[in-house]
Amino acid sequence: MKSSMLRKVYSAEEFRKNGHELIDQLSDHLEAAINEPNKRVIKWKEPDDEYDFWKEYNPNNSFAAFNQEVIKRCVHLHNPKYMGHQISPSAPITALSSLLNALLNNGMGVYEMGMAPTAMERVVCKEICEVIGYGKTSDGFLTSGGTLANLTALLCARNKIVKTNVWEEGNTSKLAIMVSEEAHYCIDRAARIMGLGAKGIIKIPVDNNYAIRTDLLESYFDQANEKGLEVFAVIGSAPSTATGVYDALEEVANFAIKKKIWFHIDGAHGGAAIFSSKYKRLLKGIEKANSVAIDGHKMMM
Ligand SMILES: Cc1ncc(COP(=O)(O)O)c(C=O)c1O
Repeated sequence: MKSSMLRKVYSAEEFRKNGHELIDQLSDHLEAAINEPNKRVIKWKEPDDEYDFWKEYNPNNSFAAFNQEVIKRCVHLHNPKYMGHQISPSAPITALSSLLNALLNNGMGVYEMGMAPTAMERVVCKEICEVIGYGKTSDGFLTSGGTLANLTALLCARNKIVKTNVWEEGNTSKLAIMVSEEAHYCIDRAARIMGLGAKGIIKIPVDNNYAIRTDLLESYFDQANEKGLEVFAVIGSAPSTATGVYDALEEVANFAIKKKIWFHIDGAHGGAAIFSSKYKRLLKGIEKANSVAIDGHKMMM
């Protein structure tokens, strides 16, 4: 690469100019999204049409034109008419933190590459643990989302509960988890990634309200045992994605304690209710869970 090009890429002045321009564009977008009720949330394009557009797109060296095109072609979550999927309109300040993070690009694979981020991760996780009601020795870490958090928690569960060393020896026995039939599909996927197979995912029916039927936990556990399956974890949804219904977490927790298995709560969607004095009752029993996953990009803005 020519050194003149590299100088331009790393130019502080270029960055300052582009940055100010971008902030202005985003602020205008925010203002319009919030204040102009007739603006549309989405201008739908078929996937292939959108692909064709970007394949041919040439910004002609204009960062501002590129930004404007991206804004135009994205879903406008800050529009008051947006009610769509689960992802919340981000608090604008968090976009600025993302910018800070992206420029500094401190990786956290090893401490010496990311001192402040590593320490901040500990502070955030400790604080969440305290709000949940966990003891002082509890801890956590940040993942890219709920899917990876759930997989990580189930790996911890297997490591802690299963008698053989699966990490070293692979699956030598028939392992299983118990989960509501309404649970998010990433739990099913995590179990399959772990080599449990379809037989290792014991789906518990739900009641009329779509919550896990806790009255069936005992009999499903016994049936699994009779089939030679070793159940090492039960998962509660807080809430399930499709219905927003929270499982009776305390009842699931008591079952797990009795059976000496791991209790994980998938709170990706609504675990953040723990911060709400009005809604934290929905999470009654959360402090009895061995692990909890909570998504920041959903109900934590
Ligand atoms: C209950 C539940 N669990 C897990 C996930 C997966 O989370 P993520 O998209 O952050 O990987 C979701 C996402 O919709 C969810 O609703």
